[in-house]
Amino acid sequence: MNKNYVIDTMFDYFQLEGKTAIVTGAANGIGAGIASMLAGLGVNVVACDIEDGPLEKTVGAIAAAGGEITAVHCDISVPADVEKTIALALNKYGALHILVNNAAGCGGGKKIDDMTDPEWDRLINLNLTCVYKFIMKVYPVFKAQKYGKIVNISSGAAITGDWSDPHYAAAKGGVISLSRELAVEFAKDHIYINTVAPGLVQTRMVLPWEGVEENNILVGRIGTPKDIAATVAFLASAASDYFTGQTICPNGGSWMY
Ligand SMILES: NC(=O)c1ccc[n+]([C@@H]2O[C@H](COP(=O)([O-])OP(=O)(O)OC[C@H]3O[C@@H](n4cnc5c(N)ncnc54)[C@H](O)[C@@H]3O)[C@@H](O)[C@H]2O)c1
Repeated sequence: MNKNYVIDTMFDYFQLEGKTAIVTGAANGIGAGIASMLAGLGVNVVACDIEDGPLEKTVGAIAAAGGEITAVHCDISVPADVEKTIALALNKYGALHILVNNAAGCGGGKKIDDMTDPEWDRLINLNLTCVYKFIMKVYPVFKAQKYGKIVNISSGAAITGDWSDPHYAAAKGGVISLSRELAVEFAKDHIYINTVAPGLVQTRMVLPWEGVEENNILVGRIGTPKDIAATVAFLASAASDYFTGQTICPNGGSWMY
């Protein structure tokens, strides 16, 4: 038997204890699930959102359960907020290893005939440009330490083309392309960047669709924030070190590519 293989299996690829992560949009839904799971795995979590009340509630519950977590009011479209969040992570926890770009908004099922230019611009900015800008603020930190894990939350809407909200779908498609492109440039500095494109997940964002699609999901249920958080935890850990520029689709088998 190969001796290196035996030694290698003793390494805990899923260990995340002591790492520090920023999770955007952590007050509600999937972001709250990601913050909770990472904190449960021993990650120092910097949880940011614009909804201060729900953020305090989520962070309070995670801290009460023993997680190391800090709430920050951070609007991802405000550069000073993004800088403040990164500085807080570095000052409080001494390092930053993981960025989860989860914050986003949707258009509520807009059809193209109802689309306005301001609405198009708003979602492209929030769901794509702000993701790019957050990454570029973290990039110097990851580059200097020659390590970083970036996980971007896209959507099945970017791939299946049947969810309406064309501006949302286009922005989420852009996130997939951006991640793939940056992976090429980041690889030499051991900065891993991957995308999660969930199917329907039980959050307030999908209320208009709830109950509609369950029949099309092979496992027979809509996803939960925990389903997505588990994928993010994998992509944040050394277990995924052979993944970069990839898109993983937790969707219960509702569509397969
Ligand atoms: N729920 C689904 O079925 C589904 C499916 C595919 C992808 N997604 C994606 O998952 C992610 C989370 O969505 P969710 O379903 O939990 O929705 P959600 O509305 O519950 O959560 C989104 C969070 O982002 C925050 N946010 C919005 N604008 C922000 C800003 N400018 N700065 C900081 N925070 C901001 C909101 O306050 C909210 O807490 C999004 O990227 C979404 O596109 C969701």
